[in-house]
Amino acid sequence: MNIVIFGPPGAGKGTQSLRLVKEFNLSQLSTGDLLRDEVNKKTNFGNQIEEIMKTGGLVSDDIINNLIEKKISDPQFKNKIIFDGFPRNLDQAKKLDILLEKYDQKMSLAINLKVDNEILTKRITGRVICSVCNKTFNIFFNPPKSCEIKECSKRKLNQRSDDNEETIVKRLKTYDEKTFPVLDYYLKKGIIKNVDGMQEISAISDQLFTVIRALRS
Ligand code: AP5
Ligand code: MG
Repeated sequence: MNIVIFGPPGAGKGTQSLRLVKEFNLSQLSTGDLLRDEVNKKTNFGNQIEEIMKTGGLVSDDIINNLIEKKISDPQFKNKIIFDGFPRNLDQAKKLDILLEKYDQKMSLAINLKVDNEILTKRITGRVICSVCNKTFNIFFNPPKSCEIKECSKRKLNQRSDDNEETIVKRLKTYDEKTFPVLDYYLKKGIIKNVDGMQEISAISDQLFTVIRALRS
């Protein structure tokens, strides 16, 4: 089944996506991660994207639609995608429906992780990422103890360039103005599941596992 996971910056979309991938053999499509891959290539195109991400705004729909079609059109991921950070505005949501229809697929579930703004800010400013295994931790809520990979003993803990207080305010504003209305689009389709994203990480996953198992049975 295809699933979309919603929530403001820091809600836990990436954290929960990885757990759903493992549990249900899905494939994560994080537009934020794909954009960061482009930025890391240090091309002109990557530099342009980085500038937009640093302002907390949205990258153009054309760039995003091109990235996602590659994944949706790949038969190995047919009806197995978890969309993380996409769609982020109404036009992207409509485009996604067109692409799903084109490749004979459908969206089964839209998860909405609800978290208060003060907690979001702490989650984002506290987020650190292992330079070796790419695992995400949080200095306040999920301290970086040890990674699973031996080489991680030589790790650095990196922060995302958009994880600062100034950009967070703008990212939250962009979410409220552009992304929040997309929830209504999925509400009308009757596939929204609201989830309290302020619980422990594993309590949230357990709740999501139950919802998804019920849909699959
Ligand atoms: P993107 O990378 O998608 O960022 P985001 O939506 O701002 O969300 P985050 O990745 O910050 O948070 P998350 O919900 O994944 O939380 P996480 O699990 O990491 O997008 C970045 C930028 O790219 C955008 O601003 C935009 O410019 C551009 N972009 C991306 N997609 C686009 C699109 N479709 N169109 C146009 N532009 C696009 O958790 C956060 C922290 O909290 C971690 O440290 C984690 O350990 C901790 N944590 C998670 N869950 C819990 C919990 N339950 N309790 C305690 N701590 C927790
Ligand atoms: Mg994320």
